[in-house]
Formats: sequence, structure tokens, C-alpha cells
Amino acid sequence: MDVVLAGLARLEYRGYDSAGVAVLDGDAVRIDKRAGKLANLREEVAGHEESSSQVAIGHTRWATHGAPTDANAHPHRGGKHGELALVHNGIIENFAPLKAELVAEGYEFDSETDSEVAAHLVAREMTRLADEAGAEEGAAGADLTEAMRRVVSRLEGAFTLLAVDAAAPDRVVAARRNSPLVVGLGEGENFLGSDVAAFIDATKEALEVGQDQIVTVTPDDVAIIGFDGAPVTDAKRYTIEWDTTAAQKGGYPSFMAKEIHEQASAVADTLRGRMENGRLHLDEMKIDPALLRSIDKIVVVACGTAANAGSVVKYAIEHWCRIPVEVELAHEFRYRDPVVTEKTLVIAISQSGETMDTLMAVRHAKEQGAKVVAICNTRGSTIPRESDAALYLNVGPEIAVASTKAYLGQIGACYLLGLYLAQERGNFFPEEIAEIMHDLEGLPDKVQAVLDNAAQVEQLAHDMADATSVLFLGRHVGYPTAMEGALKLKEIAYIHAEGFAAGELKHGPIALVDEGQPVFIIVPSPRGRDSLHSKVVSNIQEIRARGARTMVIAEEGDTDVEPYADVVIRVPATRTLFAPLLTIIPLQIFACELATAKGLDVDQPRNLAKSVTVE
Ligand code: F6R
Repeated sequence: MDVVLAGLARLEYRGYDSAGVAVLDGDAVRIDKRAGKLANLREEVAGHEESSSQVAIGHTRWATHGAPTDANAHPHRGGKHGELALVHNGIIENFAPLKAELVAEGYEFDSETDSEVAAHLVAREMTRLADEAGAEEGAAGADLTEAMRRVVSRLEGAFTLLAVDAAAPDRVVAARRNSPLVVGLGEGENFLGSDVAAFIDATKEALEVGQDQIVTVTPDDVAIIGFDGAPVTDAKRYTIEWDTTAAQKGGYPSFMAKEIHEQASAVADTLRGRMENGRLHLDEMKIDPALLRSIDKIVVVACGTAANAGSVVKYAIEHWCRIPVEVELAHEFRYRDPVVTEKTLVIAISQSGETMDTLMAVRHAKEQGAKVVAICNTRGSTIPRESDAALYLNVGPEIAVASTKAYLGQIGACYLLGLYLAQERGNFFPEEIAEIMHDLEGLPDKVQAVLDNAAQVEQLAHDMADATSVLFLGRHVGYPTAMEGALKLKEIAYIHAEGFAAGELKHGPIALVDEGQPVFIIVPSPRGRDSLHSKVVSNIQEIRARGARTMVIAEEGDTDVEPYADVVIRVPATRTLFAPLLTIIPLQIFACELATAKGLDVDQPRNLAKSVTVE
């Protein structure tokens, strides 16, 4: 039980509106579950006597079907006598007809969830198998693996299911389609989890579970079969490289604060080992350079923060490679009729590698013949596995729901990919790449310099804790930075925030500006291209004239902004295309501190989950 609760605590970031555990207890299955955070469940189980059984399953929920109540929390009981317990991630799309079928047979439902259907279906198969074997209902010997196998073929949608049953007391049986599942391999103990954080305290050895597979785990054995019943013998074993401390707060008040302050090493980790003798080496991607030479268009698909990273990257790749780059929200890409051919390279950006919207876009792109490169943080996750090639961020686990260090890692990894494309396509002389890489490698120190200045922004956030609306403006790469700054503030501080292209201001948004309206403006380098800098400085004047309170993020030494800025936040000078890795940091700190000042749960904002595994 303690192992399961500890695992749930590390996974709570995936969803946290209710939690539950089931443990085998003699001939029965004991289930405890409570709406709200894990602390509520801990309170509930605190008084219970510890079961002697070593078999338990647990779940933290992010509601899809049914409100976050005790009854809708997982595990769900299955069977007319409640002898089975099951947890589910994902959505069972055809649950309504299945439920009607079970109700007609006398099964009673305690919850409004789609998941309870799966619990009853597996329990029903257990009964049928026992009957077929001539045994009593639920008698020992019934095969939980076979029961699960019979059920999965009836389910439509996405699911990871875990079941325990009193009739098979030494095992947990799991099935996966389109939702994540990994096995942890211990000594005389084995584990299952949505990601490795669940069992990282106990073992660093893991086994990937493929699509449409069923795993049966006992203390001494792990057996995998396909949904067709055929044994799987080539499951990939790997060693988890994360340190356990990476999944702890390390003295910071929140994971988000910790992850913001880790960004200098995160960027260094993304770049490390990928350049040698002035040339980029991305052989790990395992993609044919000839193919990269043949592409005529790039489409970036991603959601949320990852999509903002994609929007930054578009400016760089188009500039370096002279290939058109489209950036599209994955869910929009998937359900229109995008023009994608064998000559299109799709870049799928996803920290978790499990975002269902992005996964569906990847599948759609592949069906159209495109090649897909995943830019991902989580090894062994679904999106890189289904893509033609993968480039990992290497920034370590990101626990806070609001993405920060992965955002920098995503931009860094895509920049490496862009420069690699330019190198392989001959867009640059080798010394040009070496020079750009040299500047890129200097970024971690500059990131650290911005972080060392955090106190100014922290104070600003505390002073502005009562703000009800904040606007963000930028041009060129400053525009997606403005979008990302606004997203951070919305999602963790629950403040109305909008990011605009500064040039768009006079086409409408300037009407929002009146006396005292706080506006962050991201100012490009005065040494940058064309007259971008002076245009943004003019925009600051325009909003200042209408009463805005202007908080300006500008390069060190840029004195042009001073007459029009209420607050100037300085970042070190760098190339225009690298500035987004610096200018976003004050905005991350601002959101994090403002949410903290409001007394909000920074790491687990309301209604959100870290891994959005439903469409
Ligand atoms: C915002 C945030 C989300 C994610 C989005 C995609 O801070 O974290 O917007 O960026 O849900 O997630 P991944 O990158 O896991 O595909």
C-alpha cells in the first residue's frame, strides 16, 4: 500500500481530482477512494490495518466522464459480488452500449464513469472462464489475463487498464491501447506505472509495453502478450537515467520554481554531446540524411506550450533552411484536410510524448506519407515510438503541470534539428554552423544570468497580486514569447491574460488598453534585423500614451526603452533567434510568483493535467 501511495504522489501531476487504491485482502478486494487530492486518500487509509497482500493498484484521476466525486474515483469494483478492482486511464468511447448490455444482465453501477464498464466486463469474463472450467464463480484458477484479453477487443477508444481479482491473488494484469504504460523490473517485485516516476524509488530497470499488449505481472515474473494472444518476446528493456532527486522539489517551494531554476542546466543538457569538430551529429535520430535533403515543407504539430515553442522555431528554421514551415495546433491539423506529402517533414513536439491530440496528428501525417520526427522529453513514450525518428530534450522529468524547462528544451532541440537540416542540405558553410553552435552553447550562462536576476520579477509579481488582466506584446520571435507568457499566467494564476503580435495592436487589441492596464513588452535586440526594435519601441509609446503600465523586457544596454518603461527587466544580449530562450524566463517567474502570492497550488492548477491523454 505504501509503495502505491508513494507512486501516486509522484504521478499526482498527471491528474489530481480524486485518487484511490485497491488491495487484495484475503478473499476480498479492499478499495479506498476519495475525491480531491491524494492527501484526502491518505487520511482515509491512515486508520486501516495493513493487508498482508503485496498486490495493490492505485490511480489519480482527471475527470472525463462524471464529476470528481468519491464514487467516480478509481478503482472501480467489477462483478456482481465486487471481487475485482480496476483502474483506467483514457476514454472508452463505446461505453454506453456496453453499459446497457451489462445493466440488462443485472450488473449494478456505482459511478457515472466509462471505466466501471471495463471493470464489470472483465469480472464477467472471469465468471464465464470459471464456469467454462466447471468451477464455482470467481474460484481460484480463473485466468485474469484471458479475461482481460477477451474484453479489450470489445473496447473502442484509448485505455490503459489495470485489474486485480481475489481469484488470482498473486498478480496484476494490465492492457494498453493508446495510453501510456511501463513496467518496472525489481528483485522479487515488479511494478506497473503510467510513467517511470511511479516506481523510480524501487528500480531503474524498465520494460516498454507496446500498443495493443497485455502484461501480467507477479512478484517474480512479467509476461506480455498481444491482444491476439500471441506472446511478445521482444519488449524493449532499458535503464532509467533520471536521478530520484530529479523528482523531488530540492528545497524549492514548488516543482515549477525548481524547474524554472534548472533551466540553465536543462539547455546545456539538450545541447550536450550533439556537436563534434564543428559539425552536428544527430545520428541518434536514426533518419536518413538523404530524406532530409528531399523535403520541401515542414509542418510542426503540437499543443499548448509545445505549440508556442513550435512558433518560435518556425522563425529559425525558415531563416536557416529556406524551407517553408507551418505551425499548427495538433487537434486542428488532424481534423481538417492538410496538404501533406512524402516530401513533408512533420515535427511533433511533445514533452510527455503522450498528448493524444498530437499523437492523432502524427498518425494522420504518417497515413498521408509524411515523415515524422518527434521532439520529446519522455523516453519510451508513444509519440516518439510511433514517429519515424526522435530527438530527445534530455531535460529530466518535468513534474509541474505548467511547462517551463521543457519549453526551453523544445526550442533547443528544434534548433539543433534546424541547424542539422541546414548542414545536411548545404545551406551554410561549415564555419557558419560552428559559429551559430558556439553562440548556442553560450546560452546556458545567459539563462543563468536571467535567473540570477529573479528577485526583481518576484517583487513585481507580489506587487501585482491583485491584477485582473495582463497583456503581453512582442514581434517576430517575441510574439510566440508573448503567447507563452500569457499562457503561463492564465493556467497557474487564473488571471485573464492575452498575448498579441505588437503590430496587430492597432488592428483591435489597443482598445483594451486604458489607465493602469499592465502590459509586458518583449523588445528585440537593437542590433537585430531591420527596424524591428524601433517598431516595438514605438508600440510601447502608443500604449503608454493610453495609460498602460509598461513592463519592458529588453537587452542589457538598450537605453531607447527607458523613457517609456515603468519597469525594465534586463536580459543579456544574444542573437535575435536565441532571445526567446531568455525573454520567456522573467514571464515564467512572474506567473509562478504571482500564483504563489495568491496562495494557489502552483504545481497542480485547477482543471489541468500534465499529460492530456484524451482528445
Ligand atoms: C502548459 C502546458 C501545456 C502542454 C500541452 C502539450 O504549461 O504544459 O500547454 O504544453 O498540453 O503537452 P506535451 O508537450 O506533453 O504534448
